[in-house]
Amino acid sequence: MRSLNLNFTPFPELKTNRLHLRAISVDDAEWLLDMRSDPAMMQYIDRPLMREKSEALELISKIETTNQKGDGLLWAITEIGSSRMIGTVSYHNIDRTNLMGEIGYLLHTDFQKKGIMQEAVIGAISYGFSNIGFHRIEANINTGNDSSRKLLLRNGFKKEALFRENFYYNDKFLDSEIYGLLEHEWPKN
Ligand SMILES: CC(C)(COP(=O)(O)OP(=O)(O)OC[C@H]1O[C@@H](n2cnc3c(N)ncnc32)[C@H](O)[C@@H]1OP(=O)(O)O)[C@@H](O)C(=O)NCCC(=O)NCCS
Repeated sequence: MRSLNLNFTPFPELKTNRLHLRAISVDDAEWLLDMRSDPAMMQYIDRPLMREKSEALELISKIETTNQKGDGLLWAITEIGSSRMIGTVSYHNIDRTNLMGEIGYLLHTDFQKKGIMQEAVIGAISYGFSNIGFHRIEANINTGNDSSRKLLLRNGFKKEALFRENFYYNDKFLDSEIYGLLEHEWPKN
């Protein structure tokens, strides 16, 4: 019987050509606030905008607990040689029974359109299949999120569903697109 390896202590840092993916810490609070308070970045995230550093600190503490319990995994993305967090890539909604996890990502506007998230998700997906042992990685996007869709399709995710108005947010019912990638479809595996 296969099971997932959800022990993230010590934290599984990853290196790619340009990037260092590391654990988030309280020192990243201002960067997290900067991204999560920007309406342009949060347009398709469907979460309230952050207003205070205390909210960022609270989220960082939650993320650390989630990582420690193996209920999720979030990497802070930095450029090699810099300590500044420029984005995050993460797994959440981990399904231990069916060996699945949902991927999520956020990249500061100043660093978009440079292939940075592409590089980060290759690292995260490879780690997800090879080290965590996922059989399937899912993504759930807002139908207007063209950049996110492009990223998923470029990495071999297939569109599997369009759920009509299944997410109630800010007095609106929003559609969701569901994407999936199976371990044998990942060429780097
Ligand atoms: C989704 C998101 C991470 C995509 O960021 P991104 O920078 O477009 O993603 P990538 O790293 O894949 O970059 C690809 C783009 O960089 C360009 N690029 C430039 N240099 C490149 C390089 N060296 N290598 C690869 N691509 C490069 C590509 O041509 C591509 O441009 P295109 O989209 O116009 O075709 C970003 O838009 C984001 O954080 N949005 C806000 C949060 C969000 O919505 N998250 C997803 C929730 S589901």
